Amino acid sequence: MRVVLVGPPGAGKGTQAQFVASHLSIPKISTGDIFRDNVSHGTALGRRAQAYMERGDLVPDEVTIAMVTDRLQDDDTQAGFLLDGFPRTVPQAETLKKMLSAWETRLDVVLELVVDDDEVVRRLSGRRTCRRCGRVWHALFDPPAHVDACDDCGGQLFQRDDDREQTIRHRLEVYQEQTSPLVAFYADEGILLGIDATGPVDEITERALSALRRFNR
Ligand code: AP5
Repeated sequence: MRVVLVGPPGAGKGTQAQFVASHLSIPKISTGDIFRDNVSHGTALGRRAQAYMERGDLVPDEVTIAMVTDRLQDDDTQAGFLLDGFPRTVPQAETLKKMLSAWETRLDVVLELVVDDDEVVRRLSGRRTCRRCGRVWHALFDPPAHVDACDDCGGQLFQRDDDREQTIRHRLEVYQEQTSPLVAFYADEGILLGIDATGPVDEITERALSALRRFNR
């Protein structure tokens, strides 16, 4: 199955992507994670992306599209994939559509996670991420047993540079201007499905999986 998750920063895309992709036995491809990995390793791609990410702006389309085009050609995507954080602009969505069509395939479904701005700020200001395994925690809503350590692997937890309140507000504006037009784009394609992304994480996963079952062709 070929799935895209769309939704504002903090909607829970990364949280849900890990459970949904594992349930469907497809790889989760998170452009934010790939960029952060490149930034922490000081690669040329990371150096190009870093300033945009710190400001809460989108990395330019040509950089992001080239990176995703490479990743989608890896063997593990043959049976499908779940894209978390891509596409994020209409040109990215158009390029993805052309690319998949050239490979004689297409997206099955775009799942929109719907939450309001206040919930986003509450979620992102408490987010903690494991430096070793990437597992996402929340200081209040999903706290690890020890404040600084991941329960899963013992790795150190950190707060993302772009999770300061001012930057979160800017990311929300960027989402409204540049990413929310994708909702109409995919509604026109007949593959958009919105779900309420508030409430307990496992209930949202169940909502997502039952929505996906309806689109699994
Ligand atoms: P990216 O990492 O994709 O950031 P984002 O879209 O802003 O999304 P987030 O990762 O902040 O939130 P999320 O929806 O994954 O929420 P999460 O599950 O973590 O991108 C970062 C940057 O990279 C961008 O700003 C841009 O610069 C660049 N970039 C990436 N892709 C790009 C592209 N295609 N084009 C150009 N640039 C690109 O959850 C958040 C918190 O809430 C966590 O603490 C979690 O524990 C908690 N939580 C989750 N679910 C619940 C729940 N149900 N109840 C309570 N708490 C919950």
